[in-house]
Amino acid sequence: MSYIVVVDREGQEHRLDALNGWRVMEIIRDHELPIKGECGGCCSCATCHVYVDEAWRDRIPKREDEEDEMLDEAFSVEDNSRLSCQILFSEDLEGLRVYLAPEGA
Ligand code: FES
Repeated sequence: MSYIVVVDREGQEHRLDALNGWRVMEIIRDHELPIKGECGGCCSCATCHVYVDEAWRDRIPKREDEEDEMLDEAFSVEDNSRLSCQILFSEDLEGLRVYLAPEGA
């Protein structure tokens, strides 16, 4: 089974099973880690904000304009910020490591 690694807000690491074609937000939410994903993945809420590990930044598809615009309205945005609903898992992302952004970010 493929997997991703998610570091929660307490610094604890979680290895989560991942399926091809699933949004990273959905994977995190399905494992009951605290991510809201309020808009269900429509890129209109920013409650699925994560930070992508530096080692992965250049290995995932770049942000589209829509994601950039949504992140402009989010808090605690960093260069490695992403909306996890906009990252579709595939085998190329096996072992992807992300950190949950602070709540309300
Ligand atoms: S779930 Fe709303 S922007 Fe990602």
